[in-house]
Amino acid sequence: MATTNSSVPSGSPGGVTDGVSTGGIRTVVVPAAGLGTRFLPATKTVPKELLPVVDTPGIELIAKEASEAGASRLAVVTSPRKQGIMAFFDRDELLEDTLEARGKTEQLNKVRAVNEMITAVSVNQDRPLGLGHAIGCAEDSLDDDEDAFAVLLPDDLVLPFGVMNEMIRVRQRYGGTVLCGFEVPEDEVSNYGVFEITDVEGADNADSQVRRVTGMVEKPDVADAPSNIVATGRYLLDRSIFDALRKTTPGKGGEIQVTDAIARLIDEGHPVHVYVHRGNRHDLGNPGGFIRACVDFALDDPSYGPSLERWLAHRLEK
Ligand code: G1P
Repeated sequence: MATTNSSVPSGSPGGVTDGVSTGGIRTVVVPAAGLGTRFLPATKTVPKELLPVVDTPGIELIAKEASEAGASRLAVVTSPRKQGIMAFFDRDELLEDTLEARGKTEQLNKVRAVNEMITAVSVNQDRPLGLGHAIGCAEDSLDDDEDAFAVLLPDDLVLPFGVMNEMIRVRQRYGGTVLCGFEVPEDEVSNYGVFEITDVEGADNADSQVRRVTGMVEKPDVADAPSNIVATGRYLLDRSIFDALRKTTPGKGGEIQVTDAIARLIDEGHPVHVYVHRGNRHDLGNPGGFIRACVDFALDDPSYGPSLERWLAHRLEK
């Protein structure tokens, strides 16, 4: 059951727009109910989605990416113990008034930024039954006329930002469901959903990174993997995924896997394509990946970059 975050004004720039009629997206689902076990003890009390990459929580980077892809609603799938995530989307009038009175305009803009991007709604996932189950919980947060929606996994930073816009373009051309793929070394495929792919008939240069998906398997053994193109945390899903998820029984790890629901859609003749992204990723869900993301972003930040670079060079010399 979705509940609108009451503190976000409905007339905000995040209010519902008409992106859907132009083949765009309105709702982005963010599965964020996980326990964050790879990041304990920090995640005992702080949801991993609130840990800051330099100064910005991962969930705000996701909200920005969603907004830049044209979405107006962020359906955050959380559990009761992680309500701190939703609190981040609340206005803090005392803080804003204080910053305003002190003339701290830059900080004020930073505090308000997330409310100007998007409207967040909370979706409850009471049991950790897998990514497919989490996505299924968000069905009621879509409007009746939305025939597709996006899923952004907050652990996964896909860089440079903007891949969802490419995926929307692919859906406008081919319809159906569009996924984001990455090429990984063969010995890493078992950590991912893996695509079986073929070339797209009649594809032109604009589609050099697009492949048709003929099958998909969740975390196969290396010997059984159909390719080394794997799913990253960006999905543009046709609404029919909800029916497929209802028919999906627990798979790898005893969880309801979105990969299995997508494989079912393919078997039923639904068009599925993958946009093979050429860029970088950071896994924010564990300290090693998170540190890399912080260093990567900080080096590009004019306030921190130059001194960090000098310090790193000095530190690495030792
Ligand atoms: C999930 C998906 C997997 C996908 C991965 C991308 O796995 O089940 O298909 O490749 O995200 O990050 P997880 O990393 O949650 O185990």
